[in-house]
Amino acid sequence: MRVALLGVGLMGSAAAERLASTGFNVVVWNRTREKAERLSEALGVDIAKTPMDAVSNSDAAIAFLADDEALLGVAGSIGRVDGLIFINSSTVTPRASRLAASYLESRGACYIDAPVVGGPGRVREGRLIVVASGRASCIDRVRELLDALSEKVIVVGGEPGQASAVKLAYNALLITSIEVLGESVLLVERNGVNKSLFKELLQSTVFSEFAEKYFDRAVDPRGPVGFRLELAAKDLEYAGRAAFDTKAPAPVIEAAASVYRIASVGCGELDYAKIYAFLRDPSCKTG
Ligand SMILES: NC(=O)c1ccc[n+]([C@@H]2O[C@H](COP(=O)([O-])OP(=O)(O)OC[C@H]3O[C@@H](n4cnc5c(N)ncnc54)[C@H](OP(=O)(O)O)[C@@H]3O)[C@@H](O)[C@H]2O)c1
Repeated sequence: MRVALLGVGLMGSAAAERLASTGFNVVVWNRTREKAERLSEALGVDIAKTPMDAVSNSDAAIAFLADDEALLGVAGSIGRVDGLIFINSSTVTPRASRLAASYLESRGACYIDAPVVGGPGRVREGRLIVVASGRASCIDRVRELLDALSEKVIVVGGEPGQASAVKLAYNALLITSIEVLGESVLLVERNGVNKSLFKELLQSTVFSEFAEKYFDRAVDPRGPVGFRLELAAKDLEYAGRAAFDTKAPAPVIEAAASVYRIASVGCGELDYAKIYAFLRDPSCKTG
């Protein structure tokens, strides 16, 4: 199966690596061409000049693009593509997903809303969780491809936008929790208690798995960037917007979105779990 990867940032490049190593015929496109060139050299995969070039001879396309604007811009540059399965794995608003679907379906593609849970490490191991919505017959046609990237595919509905809503709800819960973790650690420290004792408490409670996975990632100034803080701000913003559009109250998500929005001005390139660094020092200089 020939697969076009549209957007080879942290997630798209990891997906290209995984798919190339599991026998798919991969072609990559990226707005900043140098990134695609580096990847093409490293993996020996094809490189395309435009999104249309990438998808024109492909069976499926997977988009790992930053936001609504990027998805709609790339989708809108695609012409007639009868039979293409277009998988959107970017985290976008339900509204943008529906717009991309309606445009691409008018061009002959079948659109699947398929955002993912899990970062680049899990992509490389084929251990993502894919949340999908769209026509069952189209999802079936790319099942082998989704299985190569994931340990589980959860189909949440038949309409584009539904999976995006579920993914935004998940990220809102996770990112807001990480923000509250940062506030809680500071509260402990400012009262003269070593934060490792707070970690020990969390590990002895219902928060044990959360602390195991996120405590050190949040408070240790070192460590790789898996998901840029600027994109987490976008996800909270989009979750608030999706809630507003459907009259679902979301005051806490909107408050967390404000914190991440302000933090992303100077700290946007940090890993999103480092919101603690911002709360401690808005310049993010002391971890
Ligand atoms: N990282 C994670 O852990 C994770 C997990 C689940 C879902 N996601 C979602 O997956 C998507 C990609 O995330 P990522 O971590 O790979 O982000 P990233 O490293 O920042 O990559 C973003 C990609 O989008 C492209 N892009 C940005 N604006 C564009 C525009 N206007 N037109 C065309 N292309 C544009 C970038 O191209 P350039 O190289 O030219 O800037 C790059 O290829 C996002 O929606 C994110 O929320 C991320």
